[in-house]
Amino acid sequence: MRGEKTFSSFLPLISLSFFIFISQSIATNYPINVWPKPTTFNWPNPKSILLSPNFTISHPDHRYLTPAVNRYRQLILSEHHRPIITPAINLTSSTPLQNLIISVSDVTSPLSHGVNESYSLSTPSDGSSSAYITPATVWGAMRGLETFSQLAYGKNPIRVTAGVYVHDLPIFIHRGVMLDTSRNFYGVDDLLRLIKALSMNKLNVFHWHITDSHSFPLLVPSEPELAGKGAYGNDMMYSPADVQKIVEFGLEHGVRVLPEIDMPAHTGSWAEAYPEIITCANMFWWPAGNTPALAAEPGTGQLNPLIPKTYEVTKNVIHDTIAMFPDSLFHGGADEINSACWNTDPSIQKVVASNGTLNYYYLDCGHGSFVGNDSRYDQPPGTDQGNGGSWCGPFKTWETIYNYDITYGLTDKEAQLVIGGEVALWSEQADSTVMDSRIWPRASAMAETLWSGNRDETGMKRYAEATDRLNEWRYRMVARGIGAEPIQPLWMYHVKLAAAKSVQDALLVMTVKGGECKLTDYDISKT
Ligand SMILES: *[C@@H]1O[C@H](CO)[C@@H](O)[C@H](O)[C@H]1NC(C)=O
Ligand SMILES: *[C@@H]1O[C@H](CO)[C@@H](O)[C@H](O)[C@H]1NC(C)=O
Ligand SMILES: *[C@@H]1O[C@H](CO)[C@@H](O)[C@H](O)[C@H]1NC(C)=O
Ligand SMILES: *[C@@H]1O[C@H](CO)[C@@H](O)[C@H](O)[C@H]1NC(C)=O
Ligand SMILES: *[C@@H]1O[C@H](CO)[C@@H](O)[C@H](O)[C@H]1NC(C)=O
Repeated sequence: MRGEKTFSSFLPLISLSFFIFISQSIATNYPINVWPKPTTFNWPNPKSILLSPNFTISHPDHRYLTPAVNRYRQLILSEHHRPIITPAINLTSSTPLQNLIISVSDVTSPLSHGVNESYSLSTPSDGSSSAYITPATVWGAMRGLETFSQLAYGKNPIRVTAGVYVHDLPIFIHRGVMLDTSRNFYGVDDLLRLIKALSMNKLNVFHWHITDSHSFPLLVPSEPELAGKGAYGNDMMYSPADVQKIVEFGLEHGVRVLPEIDMPAHTGSWAEAYPEIITCANMFWWPAGNTPALAAEPGTGQLNPLIPKTYEVTKNVIHDTIAMFPDSLFHGGADEINSACWNTDPSIQKVVASNGTLNYYYLDCGHGSFVGNDSRYDQPPGTDQGNGGSWCGPFKTWETIYNYDITYGLTDKEAQLVIGGEVALWSEQADSTVMDSRIWPRASAMAETLWSGNRDETGMKRYAEATDRLNEWRYRMVARGIGAEPIQPLWMYHVKLAAAKSVQDALLVMTVKGGECKLTDYDISKT
């Protein structure tokens, strides 16, 4: 008897959990989405609410939060995002959403490594005309504002998703993009646009690889000759005022600016001002025969560690750089030291080996060699073309980046020591003309994996579900002035629009169509 009762009460439990499983998999395809996906996003009864034309945001007055609030209010009222698939959701009967109330627990925490970025957000389902963001810090408030901005869509009237509950915080505290401004120069406006896009993706670090062997664009007040002679031109330098503008812009966007002066290798550009402190400067990078290369690529030169003047100049450079950048971290480079370069100086016979890699998060790959006259490109048909002389081929797709697990193979204890990740755009073949499309939306893929991971509620990789969301997000970024490259032909959405009444229907239609767009595999297996 007892056993029977247990059995019969067990059955509904099975069907209930089956039901929850299905509704969760449907829930991952909400008609309105946020990128990067929040840690928890509950929208139990998808409806929308009109946004009042005199919508306001109340917030504590703060040097950096106040401009962020003004910027987001303007964006929310003017963006008029048109979702690729018009959301089939009804309006609530509530009066329009009149205000967004931000209550910050701690308004004093500065933007620093490990600052608390968590926030909760709710929009009213019925009867209230206020939405709420409750962050730990002003920096968390900026993350919440970004999420809120992505919940608004449409034009005349603007709508906002109603009855949404978000509780959100990042898995990793360090989430960045590294940009190299030495091999090619980027204007201040390009760097501001990069910071703006970082903030939209909830990335919090702009790792600025300012100098290298190719040029020295930073005007260091106590060593002005370094840029005076080592920059590509007087109009291709960053003055202390430029740096201040970039740092302040970062603070208004919740993005730290972390300076890197690469040394002791990658310092050929320093030799324009101080030839005596650099070994192997301006030499052919890879002499013929079996001799080892002097540098990993053209652009030779390393600081000579045996000359006192080297320390004097280096100290001035570091001192001034630290004074210009408020962040507590300074990056000293230490990339690719070639002992052969030091060996060209008879007094240096130290052997230094360094061969670590950060392969997966390199963005510069796949556009061929930049040195020219490279016989690896001239192979008979049918032979292995290998990487064709590309420094870090093959091209890393957004999927490769999205699926990469940075703590793979680590124990839980070891994984806790990982502070985060960065994607790197080295600029051999990049400048402002291609910057946006090289970085976005591939860096968005990393942004989500570092914010909330790349797996769904059941522990499965969610790259298929992410495709639609990333595609939608890419359009929103483009509309916001970021030249992110397309990830799919619009044709796929024409098919959906023509035949489908909802996203779920669309996914089924796509399967019938013949699987050219592999969007569907993942979802279908679950429904
Ligand atoms: C705008 O705000 C004013 C004053 O708060 C209010 O009287 C008016 O009804 C609002 N307009 C709309 C369209 O909500
Ligand atoms: C919207 O409301 C109509 C009328 O009440 C209803 O038939 C329809 O199912 C609703 N649509 C959604 C997506 O809830
Ligand atoms: C961040 O702030 C939230 C909300 O105040 C709090 O619950 C959480 O413990 C904080 N996290 C850390 C790491 O301090
Ligand atoms: C460096 O390269 C050597 C030889 O290829 C390899 O045995 C070693 O594991 C590498 N070290 C690192 C840190 O990758
Ligand atoms: C190309 O490289 C080869 C081998 O290093 C060299 O012999 C040849 O002169 C180079 N050609 C040009 C046009 O520089």
